[in-house]
Amino acid sequence: MKTRFALVLALSLAASAQADEVADVWKAKCKSCHGDDGKAKTKVGEREKIDDLSLPAWQKNHTDARIRQVISDGVADTKMKGYKDKLSSEEIDALVKYVRGFEAK
Ligand code: HEC
Repeated sequence: MKTRFALVLALSLAASAQADEVADVWKAKCKSCHGDDGKAKTKVGEREKIDDLSLPAWQKNHTDARIRQVISDGVADTKMKGYKDKLSSEEIDALVKYVRGFEAK
């Protein structure tokens, strides 16, 4: 019983550490343009007219594959640079989920 409890505890700690990590990556690398909440209410966001990633219509029009590709390769001729050399494949996957989490309920 005791070992099982320890295992569950370790697993849930690992899961929350991972959630913290992706939030940290967002804060360090994405927030300056996209904002805390993905709405891009930032100077760069306004100047570059970055989409509000929380809009249900935006979420509906972008597949996971498209979001992943934008994060990896960037969007040509924009301030959105690719991150495939800076982030691991796991980090990019986590960011796709993180971006999904912005959808306004
Ligand atoms: C220097 C500013 C800047 C930073 C930093 C930045 N982005 Fe962007 N991002 C942009 C711009 C500008 C666009 C809009 C590109 C366009 O016009 O299609 C964009 C677009 C996007 C889109 C939507 C693409 C689409 O098809 O609408 C996603 C998703 C995205 N960024 C994710 C991220 C993630 C994740 C990070 C951090 C790893 C990040 N961005 C960092 C500027 C930035």
